[in-house]
Amino acid sequence: MVEEVDTSVEFAGLTLANPVFTASGTCGYGDELADFVDVNALGGFITKSITLKPRKGNPVPRIVETDSGMLNAIGLANVGLEKFIQEKLPIIEKLTVPVFVNVAGETVEEYVAVAERLSAEKAIAGIELNISCPNVAKGGIAFGTDPKQVSEITSAVKNAVGAKPLMVKLSPAVTDISIIARAAVDAGADALSLVNTFTAMVIDVKARRPVLANSTGGLSGPAIKPIAVYLVNKVYNEVARSRGVPIVGMGGIRNASDATEFIIAGASAAAVGTANFIEPRCAVKIIQGIKKYCISHNITNIKELVGSLGV
Ligand SMILES: Cc1cc2nc3c(=O)[nH]c(=O)nc-3n(C[C@H](O)[C@H](O)[C@H](O)COP(=O)(O)O)c2cc1C
Repeated sequence: MVEEVDTSVEFAGLTLANPVFTASGTCGYGDELADFVDVNALGGFITKSITLKPRKGNPVPRIVETDSGMLNAIGLANVGLEKFIQEKLPIIEKLTVPVFVNVAGETVEEYVAVAERLSAEKAIAGIELNISCPNVAKGGIAFGTDPKQVSEITSAVKNAVGAKPLMVKLSPAVTDISIIARAAVDAGADALSLVNTFTAMVIDVKARRPVLANSTGGLSGPAIKPIAVYLVNKVYNEVARSRGVPIVGMGGIRNASDATEFIIAGASAAAVGTANFIEPRCAVKIIQGIKKYCISHNITNIKELVGSLGV
C-alpha cells in the first residue's frame, strides 16, 4: 500500500505542488476567497480576465442558474490594467502559489500591451490568453475560432511575454478543437487550457424574452463536464501528448473524481470554476481527494495518472 504520493506537476517550466487550479473569473484576484480557502494550498491560481481599460461588462441580469449549471454573460467586467497593477498586484505578490493572469482584449495590440506589461512583474508566473470569451461583442471568441487568428495572436503575445509560460485558453465552440490547439502550439503556446463556456440561452416563457439582458451567455458547470472531458482527451491525443504541451482541463469539476477524469483524459492539471460559487473550499478538498485516489490505486506519482486512459 502506497503511503506518500508525489502530487507535484512540471508545468511549462514551473513546478506546481499539486494539479489543482481555480478557473478564471470564478475567484477574482486571490483575495475574494481568502476567508474560506488557503489559496496557497492550490497548485496554481488564475485571475479574472484583465483588459487594457476597465470594463463594466454587460447589463444585468447577467447570471442565471440552469439544470446542472449556470449561464453567465458577465462580459469581461474588470478593473483594467492600471488599477490591477495598483490594487490587485500587491495581493498577488503576497501569494506563494504560481499565479497566471488571464488576459483579454479587442485587438491583437491590446492583448500584446497587457501581456507585456504583466509579464514584466516578478510575482506573475505566466499569462493565460483568453481567446474564447463568448460574451463580448468585439474580440473574445472571435480570435479563438479561426486558426489563422489564433496563430497570429499567440505568436504576437508569446513574443511579448518572453520566457514566461503562455497558456492559451480554447473555446469548445468549434468544429475541430485540435485544429485550434495545433495553431496555438505551433505559434508558441507553452500550455493549453480548455474549455471555456458554451454559448447558450435561457428563455422566460411568460415574457417570451431571454432571461439574460445579453440574450445569450456561457454555459458552465456539471452540465458541460462530459463534453469537456472528451475535448481534453481529443486535444491530448491529437496535439498535446506528442508535443509535450501540458493541458489544464476544466468544465464542471465539483469533486476529486471529476478532476481525476480530466487527468486520466490527458490533463496535467484540473481547474475548478462554477463549483467555487457553491462550495468555496472544494478546490482544496479536491487536492486531498486526488491524493486519496492515488493511495487507493497504488499510484506513487500523479504523473502516472496523466493520460492513462485505457481504451
Ligand atoms: C461567472 C463566470 C465568470 C467567468 N469569467 C471568465 C473570465 O473572465 N475569463 C475566462 O477566461 N473564463 C471565464 N470563465 C470561464 C471559466 O474560467 C471556465 O472556463 C468555465 O466556467 C468552465 O469551467 P466550470 O464549468 O468549472 O465553471 C467564467 C466562468 C464563470 C462561471
